[in-house]
Amino acid sequence: MKATKRKSPRAPLTFLIVGAGGRGFVYADLAKKIPGKAKVVAVAEPRDFHREKMAREHGIAPELVFRTWQEAAAAGRVADCVAICTQDADHEACVKAFAPLGYHILLEKPMAPTAAACRRIVAEVRRHGNVFAVCHVLRYTAYSRIVKKLVDSGRIGDIVTVEHLEPVGYWHQAHSFVRGNWRNEKESSFMLLAKACHDVDWLSFVIGRPCRRVSSFGSLSFFKRKNQPAGAADRCLDCRLSRKCPWSAKEFYFKRLADPKQHGWPLDVVDPTFTRKNLAKALREGPYGRCVFACDNDVVDHQVVNFEYEGGVTASFTMTAFAPMGGRRTRIFGTKGTIETDDSSTIRICDFLTGKTETIDTNASGSSMAGGHGGGDNGIMDAFCTAILENRPGLIVSGVDDTIESHLTVFAAERSRRSGRTVSLR
Ligand SMILES: NC(=O)c1ccc[n+]([C@@H]2O[C@H](COP(=O)([O-])OP(=O)(O)OC[C@H]3O[C@@H](n4cnc5c(N)ncnc54)[C@H](O)[C@@H]3O)[C@@H](O)[C@H]2O)c1
Repeated sequence: MKATKRKSPRAPLTFLIVGAGGRGFVYADLAKKIPGKAKVVAVAEPRDFHREKMAREHGIAPELVFRTWQEAAAAGRVADCVAICTQDADHEACVKAFAPLGYHILLEKPMAPTAAACRRIVAEVRRHGNVFAVCHVLRYTAYSRIVKKLVDSGRIGDIVTVEHLEPVGYWHQAHSFVRGNWRNEKESSFMLLAKACHDVDWLSFVIGRPCRRVSSFGSLSFFKRKNQPAGAADRCLDCRLSRKCPWSAKEFYFKRLADPKQHGWPLDVVDPTFTRKNLAKALREGPYGRCVFACDNDVVDHQVVNFEYEGGVTASFTMTAFAPMGGRRTRIFGTKGTIETDDSSTIRICDFLTGKTETIDTNASGSSMAGGHGGGDNGIMDAFCTAILENRPGLIVSGVDDTIESHLTVFAAERSRRSGRTVSLR
């Protein structure tokens, strides 16, 4: 682990937040929740409202408030760490700008939209020896740690096969993958990478073997013009069917506005001011007010992937828009027992020898589900900072090697979906 040029080994790590959007604010807020370990001292963000909000909330000195990551990089190293929270296509350029400056790097997933760009990021980080973690936050939840420990302990014998479901959620699909930032592959990434690189990575983490072959099917089946009901308008505010439509932006966002407890994600993406006037304007003019059958979306709304890992272990994965949003549902079938969950929180372990089932509530395990991604957001921030502060690199379980392995599996699965062929990784 590369030594940090820090004023005092006891001082908190300082952070530059690059991209003060949804994820940038998550990590900045978490820095406040782990005082003594992290402090936000700089921000780079082009949108005035978001940049000023972050500068205000963290008392950032004016000379460390930048409009873009390019400006921040030109200023040299202004903090110990950088959290790169720009959109997917910008990640590679950001890594190339900040790695040579010696920053410790927390990089949002996916690393980049192409396998070649991911490899270049890996090479850059290896060249400069930065402490580096990709925000595969699911690896850092209490739930995942417990499952991994159970599997590695041999409690269910050897894993033979795994069944894993990611219920993206009907409204989450509409918000992010039909109307929002990840709707269109050219502007972001394909859906398996944008949403389910977490799941492919989680399978790789738990199974702990290299993937050999993948096959995949899936398509955009529903959110298309041909499925727009007769009489529907292209803007939800103008639509007379809105009360009967589960996808109505008018119903969805105004209901959330009426409840102050819901003044966070996803409403803040549409209108961070939480006012009726600004929300109405955003729905009238912006992308989030569009009919889900009249958008420029092209990413899939359902996809399945089959995996074969070294030693013949198999897994099947389903990602679907057509479900309530909830925890991942997983069944791990071993030679001596099974591990099951329906919410990525409560685990049931069945033992073939005794026929008994033990239930573990991972919320009660001391590391709570509180916070985003089942506690994974807190988990990665804490692990990243502690790894640097206490020189314990093993706390980072989503470094370059783990991440490139699972990202390459995602790219192979997508090649299979497009080609209709099984794709070999090795
Ligand atoms: N780990 C997870 O589970 C998770 C969840 C959601 C999103 N993500 C990933 O996090 C990243 C950010 O997603 P988000 O939801 O925060 O998006 P966002 O659009 O809310 O935030 C991105 C921010 O980058 C800013 N930006 C654009 N150009 C910039 C520049 N030149 N310099 C500095 N900032 C610039 C934008 O103005 C915006 O505020 C994406 O890569 C996304 O795929 C990860």
